Amino acid sequence: MKIWAHRGCSYRYPENTLSAFREALNYEITGIELDIQLSRDGQIVVMHDETVDRTTDHSGWLKDYTLAELKAMHIRGDDNEHVPTIREVLELIHDACVSRGILLNIELKNSEVRYDGMEQMILDLVREYGMEPYIIYSSFNPESVAMLKKMRPDLHVGALAEYASRCLEIAEAAGADALHPFIKRIDIPDLKTRTDKPVRAWNVTHFEPFYPDGGDIEVQDTAALEAAGITDIFTNAPELYVPRHG
Ligand code: G3P
Ligand code: CA
Repeated sequence: MKIWAHRGCSYRYPENTLSAFREALNYEITGIELDIQLSRDGQIVVMHDETVDRTTDHSGWLKDYTLAELKAMHIRGDDNEHVPTIREVLELIHDACVSRGILLNIELKNSEVRYDGMEQMILDLVREYGMEPYIIYSSFNPESVAMLKKMRPDLHVGALAEYASRCLEIAEAAGADALHPFIKRIDIPDLKTRTDKPVRAWNVTHFEPFYPDGGDIEVQDTAALEAAGITDIFTNAPELYVPRHG
């Protein structure tokens, strides 16, 4: 089973922060997953929710804040942490990607707010850093998935949806390269024989808590998941599945 750090090591560090990503690099992971959106002045920043209320000491829509305003916010659970730009994350992980083959799943958070032009912006930035071989794109917005594959058929793009059947539908329609379903919604019994694409399953808050909420975390039966056709999991606690690096 391939193990991904979901929003970084987000069980023990604030999600989608440099410290969560830095910690993830200390483990023998396959990759890191994160979410991107655009600030009011068109900078790509890393945050999951469309509003800043849950993860910062401010409130309102992320899209209404400039990068400088977002940077002035404090991250809940760690006053020293700030909203990262994707550029900061690429700089942080670049060497580990190149030397260890660590991958980065960039989820474009563009279903609720469309963020027109974000696809081209992120492709340009990834190219600038020479990191194209290490990036997997995904989005809950099928239009964005299709657009990415149309712009650049060579990109690796995951079809992201709750149900595995919907992921398969999107993947077939858009020519996507992988299925990214919710771990509890594998509704294709013969998934293994239905597709030879990677199936990367993700978890959610009530099954895997985020820092600083704490609480019990459900450790997955990876052998059973593999038998069901899942090749990878996104987890808030990769440290429960893989050893430390080095
Ligand atoms: O990309 C997999 C997973 O992160 C999707 O759900 O809500 O955590 O972005 P969410
Ligand atoms: Ca995500």
